[in-house]
Order: sequence, then structure tokens, then C-alpha cells
Amino acid sequence: MKLYDVHNEYQGHLDKAELTSTPLELAERWIADAAKDKNNNFEEANKMVLATVDPNGQPFQRVVLLKEISNDGLIFFTNYHSRKGQHIANNNQVSLLFYWSIHARQIHFTGKATLLTNKENEAYFHSRPYESQLAAAASHQSHPIENKQVLLDKVEALKEQFPDQVPIPKEWGGYNVAYESVEFWQGSSHRLHDRFIYLKEGNTWKITRLAP
Ligand SMILES: Cc1cc2nc3c(=O)[nH]c(=O)nc-3n(C[C@H](O)[C@H](O)[C@H](O)COP(=O)(O)O)c2cc1C
Repeated sequence: MKLYDVHNEYQGHLDKAELTSTPLELAERWIADAAKDKNNNFEEANKMVLATVDPNGQPFQRVVLLKEISNDGLIFFTNYHSRKGQHIANNNQVSLLFYWSIHARQIHFTGKATLLTNKENEAYFHSRPYESQLAAAASHQSHPIENKQVLLDKVEALKEQFPDQVPIPKEWGGYNVAYESVEFWQGSSHRLHDRFIYLKEGNTWKITRLAP
């Protein structure tokens, strides 16, 4: 398949005057914009690609769901024994990328991931639907399994053992990614896109326009 002839014209603009003093305010605005579109909602708006590196420097990426964003960081939940969990235990520098085709917008965060507390993990785990709790407890994420039936049997066994609420698996929980750089990319006409990077300098953010 060759895709050389596929071209897309973008129409957006990000003017300097629209920039907020912290990247949080602009990121929240863009997430809300993505969620507001009539073909979209927060379930679509909160998908982000998490990049980690293995001990050989090989990058890996996968989609995870943003659960909270604040001045302190971005929070997502996963399995600490998963491939990503093993990478982060070895090197907690990660990047997170949002892309919303509807507005031709991308936001790229870099920062350091740290574990949430047991209390935070437990509170979120038990706020999830029973089926999600079962699935999280049954799945040794990223590890090989013989076939799907193994997973289904595990779920059935857990249902019998815990008919109301599943105890949180010790390896399940969240990370907070405290960001140090945040880059906003807005697709614009004739490939003259707008890019601004926020770099943390103490308690303030330095903003620089980058060539597209
Ligand atoms: C739309 C979507 C949302 C996802 N959300 C999560 C999530 O919030 N947490 C998670 O651990 N995996 C999530 N996944 C699965 C991951 O992309 C990935 O397959 C899994 O975490 C294992 O990654 P790893 O083996 O690199 O650790 C999601 C996948 C998709 C496509």
C-alpha cells in the first residue's frame, strides 16, 4: 500500500494571544473541546499514547486512559507488573501524547512517572464496575497465556470467590506523570502549523514557538 497521495488540509490556528500562563489551562481547554464535539465525548477525548523505554533503549508505546489532569501531573491506571510497569520501574521518564483528528491537535507531555498510594489505588479500583475489577484481577497483563479460555476460567473462579467486590490485586494501580515539558501542535493551512512548547523553570513556564 502506498499513501503518498493522501493529503489533508488543516484549518486551525493557535495564536500567541490564546496561550495560557500554565499548560494545564490550555490542555484542559483542548480536552474539553475534544469531548464537546458532537461525534465525540470524554471517552474519546481521554485516550493518550504512553511511551516508555526498555533497558536497551527500545521505545514502546500503547494507549492508556487519562483519569485526572492537574498541576501535579496526569494520572492513569494499569498493572505495575505489565511491560510498561517494568519499564517505568527501570526508567520513570515517559512521554504522553494526545491526538484529536477532529481539531487537528496534538499535545505532547514529557515527565516522570511515580506510583500512586495504595489508598488512591484502592479508592479508584473499587469505583470501577465489578466486571472491570474481575478482569483486572484475572489478567497478568503483558504475560503470555495459553488461550483465552484460561482467562475466562479465571474470571469465573474469581466471581465465585468474590461475588460482590474483588480485592484490589497488589500489582494493580496508577501512576502520576509530573510533566516538565508540554508541547501544543495545532494543524493549520498550507502546512504552516502552530507549535508552542512550555518548559518548566522552577515554578513558572517558559513558552517558545517552534517551527512546524
Ligand atoms: C482505547 C484503549 C484504552 C486503553 N486503556 C488502558 C488503560 O487505561 N490502562 C492499561 O493498562 N491499558 C490500557 N489499554 C491497553 C494498552 O494499550 C496495552 O495494551 C496494555 O496496557 C499493555 O501494555 P504493555 O504490555 O506495554 O504494558 C488501552 C487500550 C486501548 C486501545
